[in-house]
Amino acid sequence: MAKLVINGGNRLYGCVDVQGAKNAVLPLFAASILTNEKVTIKNVPDLIDVENMAKILRSLGASVVKNGKNVEIHADNLKSSEISHALAKELRSSIFILGPMLGRLKQAKVAYPGGCDIGLRPIDIHLKAFREMNVKIVERSGYIYCDASNMISGDIMLDYPSVGATENIMLAAATIKGKTTIMNAAREPEIVDLQNFLAAMGASVKGAGTPFIEIEGTDKFKSVEYTAMADRIVTGTFAIAVAICGGEIMLNGCKGEHIQSLLSKLAKTSCNIKQYDDKIEIASKNHREAIEYIETQPYPGFPTDLQAQIMALQAVSEGVSIITENIFENRFKHVCELIKMGAAIRIKGRNAIIKGVDRLSGAEVSAQDLRGGAALVLAGLNAIGTTIVNDIYHIDRGYERIEDLLKKLGADIRRI
Ligand code: EPZ
Repeated sequence: MAKLVINGGNRLYGCVDVQGAKNAVLPLFAASILTNEKVTIKNVPDLIDVENMAKILRSLGASVVKNGKNVEIHADNLKSSEISHALAKELRSSIFILGPMLGRLKQAKVAYPGGCDIGLRPIDIHLKAFREMNVKIVERSGYIYCDASNMISGDIMLDYPSVGATENIMLAAATIKGKTTIMNAAREPEIVDLQNFLAAMGASVKGAGTPFIEIEGTDKFKSVEYTAMADRIVTGTFAIAVAICGGEIMLNGCKGEHIQSLLSKLAKTSCNIKQYDDKIEIASKNHREAIEYIETQPYPGFPTDLQAQIMALQAVSEGVSIITENIFENRFKHVCELIKMGAAIRIKGRNAIIKGVDRLSGAEVSAQDLRGGAALVLAGLNAIGTTIVNDIYHIDRGYERIEDLLKKLGADIRRI
């Protein structure tokens, strides 16, 4: 199994062209089956999760052709309305393929995606919304059977601003005549990207980025070429890397506003930050002061997907930091790995209490999930000596060859 070998202590200098956003591209792929016209999505990152979503679309009968960073999807001849257990378990977020299947095929048999590394990942909010749209749903033997032949528009109030559920409802409603409203919708930037994509295809969607989204469905979709937004979590990961290692980098193609909750904390404690329209300049202050409180929240609050990475920074910041993980119930699995590297961290329920040390020590550790794995890489960049990170397939789910970018910036890191 591949692993990363890191010798810590190097400062980082240079430029990074930030990859396309995994969590924008996945719903855009799902949206592409709403139409029998050809769709081209640009700025697609080369990731395991994206390839797994392509496999799901191909299993339905769509053609998916990769051409560098561009992917052509043509769902003019869908043959199946079933997502197998084997495919669903590979990509937990496959659940938002359900919405466009209901919209286009009016039926679906989808294996229950089940939990993953960071939590149970239930889909009750998704199914409750579809039942309110008159979709007949039977859950049996690990599968979800849906009959959407009489699906209707409606007013959906989400009990929690679920990102996936918001996207799923948008995708189903895009084909239904009439107005569907989503209240207490998630406000993540990836949802704005999906709105822009659906609008480019011919649907009328507005309000994405606010808690109130309106969708006027259509049965006439156009062929579209669309460039996905930059990955704000990859952007934040590299910003934290500068804080941990020292140095100065320019992050190109990204918007600071998408991670303002992180940048404001880094600016107060460890970095000088200049934001431009589509790039961010991050320079280390060469002093890392602990961030007293960090609480993960739905956007625009502090993102749960940067919780592990900011914890690696707090592990080597002066003072005590308390991180509360409000979104997922099992997202502290990187803590025991950081402790192996000398971090001083205590877990009390949903709270991690971190007492910063000057530097970590290199050790052999294992990635437990995508963002926790990225946090171990960041810790290794700071640590004295050599760190070996095992099970890096977790990291490859969301970061394009993370070691190449870091090496280009001056890190001593290699994949073996
Ligand atoms: C999306 O997951 C992202 N994935 C996650 O990124 C991200 O962490 C999450 O949003 C929160 O921002 C993609 O976009 C592909 P949710 P999603 O529905 O849609 C509970 C990464 O590292 N919930 O907002 O699954 C759920 O258990 C990944 O890139 C229900 O209870 O997130 C969780 O506690 C990890 N019932 C909370 O809501 C439901 O029906 C947030 O889930 C749905 C969700």
